[in-house]
Amino acid sequence: MQLTPQQLGQFHDEGWLFLPGCFAEAEVALLRDEAEGIYKTNRQEVWREKTGAPRTAFAAHTYNEAFRLLGSHPRLIRPVEQVFGEQLYMHQYKINAKAAFEGDVWQWHQDYGTWARDDGMAEPRAMNIAVFMDEVMPINGPLMLVPKSHKHGVLSAGHDLETTSYPLWTLDNDTVTRLVDEGGIVAPTGKPGSVLMFHGNLVHASAPNITPYPRRIVYLTLCAVSNYIRKPTRPEWIAHRDFRPIEPVADSALMDYAAAHKLAAE
Ligand code: SIN
Ligand code: MN
Repeated sequence: MQLTPQQLGQFHDEGWLFLPGCFAEAEVALLRDEAEGIYKTNRQEVWREKTGAPRTAFAAHTYNEAFRLLGSHPRLIRPVEQVFGEQLYMHQYKINAKAAFEGDVWQWHQDYGTWARDDGMAEPRAMNIAVFMDEVMPINGPLMLVPKSHKHGVLSAGHDLETTSYPLWTLDNDTVTRLVDEGGIVAPTGKPGSVLMFHGNLVHASAPNITPYPRRIVYLTLCAVSNYIRKPTRPEWIAHRDFRPIEPVADSALMDYAAAHKLAAE
């Protein structure tokens, strides 16, 4: 999948790009099933909300075949390679649950703020590319983005260790208000299989999910290989140390695996 010059222009100006319909229902249904299996385990990589509901599962590409294939999928790797103009390695991999009724807030933040402060990443030459596993709706805690906020560099932030189970470098209300005055807020919604990519410095957040509809999203954090982290402080399964470039799998790999999996289950 190649981004058009117009799409690249939108990414550079607005800091985000939404690509609906990238993955088929059979591919996404497999990922949903596999995610539920992972959330049920006691692995240290599964992080829970204060209520015990799953919040995120880290590093699933290292211990689950379907998520391994997704982590090397050309529909995700190629567009980000295009933006950075070089090969990529996986800096972080998360399956965020935003569980029905219990999914908690993600406060306003920039991803690169954490990668720089906690992982010693030199430049914002890394970004998240997200795959919706459920329908993301206005009501079930969609990701909210502040367009153009990526142009302000790394903003000063406080380390919030209290609000949720997940420590985050968060922005204060005055900063968010100033940026929203300029760029507004968008909350891309869409069917399972949609893809959302956004700049490492783009300010974003999501509200709690108090609906019966889960909002599971996989996030690949892809980093340009030359920008590998120099001073990690977090565990290897949160900030990876395998800096080898990702060689994309065949475009059909996840679909083939889903078909084989379905056959085996019958
Ligand atoms: C994140 O910002 O890393 C996750 C936000 C979300 O999944 O809502
Ligand atoms: Mn984030």
